[in-house]
Amino acid sequence: MPLPVVTSNPLWTGCRCVVCNRVYPIDYAGFVCADCGVDGILDVEYDLDDLAAKARADSRWFASGPVSGLWRFADQLPVQPEARHPGWDVAGLAPLTAPRLAQHLGLAALILKDDTRLPSGSLKDRAAAVAIARAVQLGIDHIACASTGNAAASLAVMAARAGLKASIFVPAAAPRAKLAQLLVHGSDLVRVDGTYDQTFDLSLRRIEQHGWYSRNCAHNPLLVEGKKTAILELVRDCPGALPDVVMVPVGDGCIVSSVAKGLLELHHLRIIDRLPRVIGVQAAGAAPLASAWRDCRRDPATLSGPGILAAVPSIVPQTLADSISVGIPRNRVKAWRYVSRTGGAFLAVPDEAITEAIGQLARLAGVFAEPSGAAGLAGIIAARDQGLIKGTEAVAVLVTGNGLKDVDAALAAVTIPEPIDPAA
Ligand SMILES: Cc1ncc(COP(=O)(O)O)c(C=O)c1O
Ligand SMILES: [Zn+2]
Repeated sequence: MPLPVVTSNPLWTGCRCVVCNRVYPIDYAGFVCADCGVDGILDVEYDLDDLAAKARADSRWFASGPVSGLWRFADQLPVQPEARHPGWDVAGLAPLTAPRLAQHLGLAALILKDDTRLPSGSLKDRAAAVAIARAVQLGIDHIACASTGNAAASLAVMAARAGLKASIFVPAAAPRAKLAQLLVHGSDLVRVDGTYDQTFDLSLRRIEQHGWYSRNCAHNPLLVEGKKTAILELVRDCPGALPDVVMVPVGDGCIVSSVAKGLLELHHLRIIDRLPRVIGVQAAGAAPLASAWRDCRRDPATLSGPGILAAVPSIVPQTLADSISVGIPRNRVKAWRYVSRTGGAFLAVPDEAITEAIGQLARLAGVFAEPSGAAGLAGIIAARDQGLIKGTEAVAVLVTGNGLKDVDAALAAVTIPEPIDPAA
């Protein structure tokens, strides 16, 4: 099946550097700001006033559309395939309500956005779909990324469906199930004997050297836009039941940026009349954003880009939640900015709380998450303790990755019974 033609969204006006505010046109060939280097992550901007006019002219603009799945939200994405193709068709399922788990946690309501059921088993498929579409638009048939595992798996799956080449750099410690995913889908796999942060830097050098298309979400601004569709779907599928708070696991800070950005856009467009607070959850052993947030002596919303860079320390990460085991959150400026604009916060949870959350999600809501996928839920208790969530509030949790990807971590939450004699 030939790949569809891809065009740019006419409402996409350009990208702005999160550090120095320099604006770049949509055909800018770089990924980051030419003045600020790797810290100068770009942010995709749209003509939201034109989009608001479109939304006003058609009251069903957001609620329905000619297509389902991720491209339903093409007006809020930078690129638009002119036809559907299985290579990048990502459709999330309706959010789950979890009354037993809500009761257990003492919450008025709990909504789970279960992205463990996407094609590669994680939310990252949303970003990979947009990356593939953009690469096709640019005529590049080789895509590469560094990953703690899931971004790579999503690229491997989508590249296989679209018939493109994928080179993937992972830390050697990535769980075996994720390595299996990469290899069976035929990606060129480079295991790096180092941390994710070192792996990321190596991937950037190789991408530049070979002229590949970068699927590094913490580098390529278009990918945060793809991730944004998780919250757009959640809002569309829960009309009238907008949560008060959204809990999001944080590694590089791309997903949390996307959730807050998506909500801010919908608020600007008057699709929602109030703004849920977005809370980013890090593992305590990999919590540079949460610790900087805790130590910030000013209103976080007033920090400048360079101020945020200076405030967020780089650390050596240590957590069982491999997907969020990140010492330098590359998208820290964007994440900090957007989260603070929703009135949200960052916090950290210990690994034991994450392991407990895996069991709670599985037993009380029937959702099997990998450690990072369960971190958002683990954050609820910490947020309640810190007074960030009230028991009367409705909370949504993004469950971002499937438990089958890291079975060893799940086994830490249970006890395997001893075998018994078959004659017993
Ligand atoms: C399952 C899962 N949850 C959360 C995250 C964190 O996402 P981000 O790096 O965008 O903060 C990742 C990133 O790899 C992930 O794989
Ligand atoms: Zn800049």
